[in-house]
Amino acid sequence: MNLPEFSATAEAHPNIALIKYWGDRDSKLRLPANGSISMNLGGLVTRTTVTFNDQFKDDRLLLNGEETSGPALERVTFFLDLVRGQAGINTHGQVVSRNNFPTGAGIASSAAAFAALCLAATRSAGLTLTEMELSRLARRGSGSASRSIPGGFVEWQAGTGDLDSYAYSIAAPDHWRLVDCIAVVSTGHKRTGSTEGHASAGSSPFQSTRVDQAPERLNRCRQAIEQRDFSLLADVVEADSTLMHAVMMTSVPPLFYWEPASLRLMKLIPEWRRQGLQACFTLDAGPNVHVICPAGQADSVEEQLSQVEGVMQVLKASVGPAASWVA
Ligand code: DP6
Repeated sequence: MNLPEFSATAEAHPNIALIKYWGDRDSKLRLPANGSISMNLGGLVTRTTVTFNDQFKDDRLLLNGEETSGPALERVTFFLDLVRGQAGINTHGQVVSRNNFPTGAGIASSAAAFAALCLAATRSAGLTLTEMELSRLARRGSGSASRSIPGGFVEWQAGTGDLDSYAYSIAAPDHWRLVDCIAVVSTGHKRTGSTEGHASAGSSPFQSTRVDQAPERLNRCRQAIEQRDFSLLADVVEADSTLMHAVMMTSVPPLFYWEPASLRLMKLIPEWRRQGLQACFTLDAGPNVHVICPAGQADSVEEQLSQVEGVMQVLKASVGPAASWVA
């Protein structure tokens, strides 16, 4: 069946993982080795419009105003194929996507990109899916995108298979007014992307221990969020980030994402905490340092971060809402 032209627009926010997803049990289905917890980053937005039209000869991707081909377009086509399969259509689509945050700032854009694409593509293909179904589908585009579908603080349960590996909100955005102050220390493009990194995680002798102990860290993180206990949160978030980086550094081939300024901040921030500032660090697959703090401390944290050698810029994001359609 072919459709006449139909178009839908959606917005989604990136998220920062407090307990990390690293490594897959099944890379084709993007079933994670362990569950993870994140918060959405409010104010940072990807807006995507998908148009299906039976006159189109191919899928097209316009990213921040530029026609894009190669691996990025292939990944979008793979995702549109999943949507077309579910909707029973074979029409080509045009995807127009724009981020309001700098591409070079090292903010994982695949989470927001595939969450927004998932909402826009399914609606324009005529599908009506629940939040759970949307999260499950977004996961197939990028694992962390499953967590950008629900709002606020979100847990992605590892699940036992495709059907029960999805994310849900564990607390609303206004439950705890935390801020992510992102200390940008490099704007260079990362050499090894997450997809490649997930594939090599199992080659580290530390990955199995990290995965075995993940349920305990997930419990502590969930409890810290429920009780708004910052010191409990700080300890588990920093430990989890450093554990993931230990796996990265001991994988074959090894992945070193830190820059000197990343390590400088990782030593300074616990020191600031001992002096009374509520702040903790976490790093994804890149050198930029996400500094989580209560909203009341964000200005002081920003001020202190901007004085550290090697910090080029500080971006701030509050806890963000769910992905949504734009009328
Ligand atoms: C380090 O979701 O970007 O940011 O599924 O290959 O797109 P793909 O990977 P992705 O991996 C995220 C890795 C991380 C940790 C996290 O966000 O949990």
